[in-house]
Amino acid sequence: LSTKTLVVYDSAFGNTEKIAKAIGEAIGGDVTVLKASGAAGSLTGVSLLIVGAPTYGGRPTPPMLEFLDKIPATGLQGVKVATFDTRLTSKLVSVFGVAAKKIAASLESKGGIQMTPPEGFFVKGREGPLVGGETQRAAAWGRTIAERVQAA
Ligand SMILES: Cc1cc2nc3c(=O)[nH]c(=O)nc-3n(C[C@H](O)[C@H](O)[C@H](O)COP(=O)(O)O)c2cc1C
Repeated sequence: LSTKTLVVYDSAFGNTEKIAKAIGEAIGGDVTVLKASGAAGSLTGVSLLIVGAPTYGGRPTPPMLEFLDKIPATGLQGVKVATFDTRLTSKLVSVFGVAAKKIAASLESKGGIQMTPPEGFFVKGREGPLVGGETQRAAAWGRTIAERVQAA
């Protein structure tokens, strides 16, 4: 992709990091992949922002919430965005909610334009591992976003 892309993730056990890196590689070109705790202030010139976090209690992790908080109220005007999370396969997930939808609402409220619905990638337990095939599915998801950005 020829536009400047930033992928921001949080990760305690490495699973969300693997998904974030797979998405970044799939998009290619001018892509930076950063952990949320070090990503504040890296939005300058970014035209595609992809953000993902583990789901904790139905919400994004605290470092991700902090990153989102630091984005100025109109800081994403005209920026294309897409969001993802990692989550358990358990039925409880639907009761508590998922991180990706909350991240999407935050980015959209600051002007971000959603390129695709929030997506979830599955882990087998709190520490992982990822369910088989999820990094490949993440790469395919990234390629779809790149195609949509190119066509827009
Ligand atoms: C404190 C805590 C709360 C969690 N709450 C949820 C939850 O509400 N829904 C869910 O699907 N997974 C939940 N999980 C599982 C996490 O989604 C899982 O640990 C995460 O996907 C792993 O990502 P990471 O390897 O990048 O840290 C929770 C995990 C922890 C440690």
